[in-house]
Amino acid sequence: MRLLCIETSCDETAAAVVDGGRRILSSVVSSQVEIHARFGGVVPEIASRRHLETIVTVIDEALVRAGVTKGDLEGVAVTRGPGLVGALLVGLSVAKGLSLSLGIPLAGVNHIEGHLLAVMLEQEVTPPFLALVISGGHTHLYDVRGIGVYRTIGQTLDDAAGEAFDKGGKMLGLSYPAGPLIDRLAAEGDPAAFSLPRPLLHDNSLDFSFSGLKTALATLLRKQGGASIDSLLPDICASYQRAICDVLVAKSAAALRETGHRRLVVAGGVACNREVRSRMEMMSRERGVELFIPSPPLCGDNAAMLGVAADAYLSQGDVIPPHEIDALPVWPLDRITTTPEGR
Ligand code: KG4
Ligand code: ZN
Repeated sequence: MRLLCIETSCDETAAAVVDGGRRILSSVVSSQVEIHARFGGVVPEIASRRHLETIVTVIDEALVRAGVTKGDLEGVAVTRGPGLVGALLVGLSVAKGLSLSLGIPLAGVNHIEGHLLAVMLEQEVTPPFLALVISGGHTHLYDVRGIGVYRTIGQTLDDAAGEAFDKGGKMLGLSYPAGPLIDRLAAEGDPAAFSLPRPLLHDNSLDFSFSGLKTALATLLRKQGGASIDSLLPDICASYQRAICDVLVAKSAAALRETGHRRLVVAGGVACNREVRSRMEMMSRERGVELFIPSPPLCGDNAAMLGVAADAYLSQGDVIPPHEIDALPVWPLDRITTTPEGR
């Protein structure tokens, strides 16, 4: 099916045209990052307003770049949740309007499911596999048995990995989102320069915790007694990033051991991180596990990633009337299979 996909769950207004759930004809992402950077994080009201202002232009651009008109579309996919409710409602309203006026079906897709399946737009990946989704709001390990069949086997008990990067960066005086900046600074630093904790590294669960790491960073900074940390930034970033990576890699390895999966998918914005990518590659190679990570544009928020699940659901006739598709600000991925009507 030729689908128009719309994503407005947080601070990116995105639209894409995807063919057959695998081929990206266009993908447009308009970022609001600079607007929110001034406030040190996403301001929900500003995000909704900005989505409203840009959504139509972004959709038009996606159609033009794909070389299609609205009449060529066979369905619409939109993020239904999880996310900021006001932001989600902008995408949902436009998607419903298009679905009803064009007489084509609408699929409400889970944003995390989008991240998890995004790599299928670039590579052939067949379930079953283990998936690690690491983003600004999520750090989850999933046992994936098929499209729509997910079981959470590990998750963060407090901050997400992306939050650990962003909040840590804020303490270091870096602008939002700090993940990419820490990635860059860490490349110049010594990861063994500062000793930081690896929370839950040696417990028996597959869960994560990053809030203690933030506290340890605050203590480290206090010890500097207010002196400028500019010259120490690369070493601090390298040590902080190393601590996060160690936990992500160790828990993924434990999950592979526990589930027996031979394939690993790593997805979400934090999967852009160069150390995460190289360490996951090393770990997978050592274990003879096949690793799949999307290219950076498909790791961060985008609309094309929604096309994979939407195509699968719509093609099998799993269609819900648009008026029944409301925003789900909280939507655990496991619920997609246990209560299909929740979709
Ligand atoms: O998936 P995403 O774009 O949006 C959410 O669904 O949250 O992820 C955004 C998160 C932010 O926390 C950002 O700092 C982080 O991904 N991120 C990175 C890198 N690029 C983006 N974290 C570490 N290193 C990076 N290179
Ligand atoms: Zn995301």
